[in-house]
Amino acid sequence: MLVDIIAGARPNFIKIAPIIEAVEAQRIAGVNIRYRLVHTGQHYDKKMSGDFFDQLGIPDPHHNLEAGSGTQAEQTAKIMIGYEQLLMEQPCDLCIVVGDVTSTMACSIAAKKMNNIKVAHVEGGIRSGDWTMPEEINRIVTDSITDYFFTTSEVANNNLRSAGIKDDKIFFVGNTMIDTLYKQMPRFQQPAIWTQYGLTDKGYIMMTLHRPANVDNKEKLQELITEIITSAKGLPIIFPVHPRTAKMLQIIGISADNLHVIEPLGYLEFNFLVKNAKAVITDSGGITEEATVMGVPCMTLRESTERPETCTIGTNELIGTNPANIAPAFGKLFAGEWKKGAIPELWDGKTAPRIVKHIVDLFGLN
Ligand code: UD1
Ligand code: UDP
Repeated sequence: MLVDIIAGARPNFIKIAPIIEAVEAQRIAGVNIRYRLVHTGQHYDKKMSGDFFDQLGIPDPHHNLEAGSGTQAEQTAKIMIGYEQLLMEQPCDLCIVVGDVTSTMACSIAAKKMNNIKVAHVEGGIRSGDWTMPEEINRIVTDSITDYFFTTSEVANNNLRSAGIKDDKIFFVGNTMIDTLYKQMPRFQQPAIWTQYGLTDKGYIMMTLHRPANVDNKEKLQELITEIITSAKGLPIIFPVHPRTAKMLQIIGISADNLHVIEPLGYLEFNFLVKNAKAVITDSGGITEEATVMGVPCMTLRESTERPETCTIGTNELIGTNPANIAPAFGKLFAGEWKKGAIPELWDGKTAPRIVKHIVDLFGLN
């Protein structure tokens, strides 16, 4: 059996690493399963792609579709054309997509329309309810043609049931991003900026911003960052900047003594800094999950989340996108009143083997 594993953007690389390992473990154990790793090329900078392959020990992709950047439609089209071509040359038996990026949706469509190739969606069923997010459209479209849903939470299971998906298609397995987190935790690396900026344990704030709603509008981005700088009360803010945000930051040209704007970090350095931070302020999805597992207070600059368990169980709180909400959130943090949180069910580092075991059973490979 040939399984395609699709990855295109930064969070995908972190999610696929343990799936590849689990497929390989089955193959080595004599199960008739092999994989083809397809990189769509949605992310291509070394710091957004290659570094993750190196640090996480992900094998070189068998194919790179080199789709690159573009508008939503351009990028979707380029990925679909590239992947369809590959499937025409050699079809697979199952296409595994992860997460909610454009590559996820585009490849699921291409596979499904190619002789009804089965699609498995890892992280299926999550919903923000915010249709202005490209990711929400990606989730809904992907889930509408998915055959096997591998889910991270009971909320996701219920979202799928509400959409009419039968229980025999839903597999509650946990979170592959957390598999990688647990595996790599002993390897986390202190980056050079630790000494360069005189950082101390719990003595700084980690920040990431890349959602179009926060960073594509100059005034909005400026307002948010200005408020964060003031609210941090002199604590260093470490801000590894996503390329989407970098363009806008250049235009704004914001600076402050406690704001350290740096390039995107490798996984091992980034999570070293998250683990030791006083708090994280972000609009990322994956980082809210990692902060939850590491017990680090997390403020999310969004009005909604597709990962509600990071708020109801974990350390995350939605503080919204109104800059006026930022100072009170920091106030709570500095008063030592941030919730402690717990780890959601099945986020135990063993999700990918569970997924692959289900696949082995579903396809009768035993
Ligand atoms: C994408 C995902 C988002 C995810 C994020 C992870 C979609 C719709 N969005 O957003 O869900 O949270 O990745 O990081 O799939 N760019 C570079 N170098 C790169 C990649 C991108 O310079 O290697 C720049 C380009 O100018 C590009 C822009 O960033 O136009 C946006 O990239 P794109 O992949 O379209 O979306 P992201 O904002 O990265
Ligand atoms: N990450 C990283 N370096 C950075 C910023 C993020 O390694 O400078 C990792 C982070 O630990 C998480 C993933 O990238 O595993 C999250 O990706 P991102 O925030 O880009 O996407 P999202 O999760 O919002 O889709």
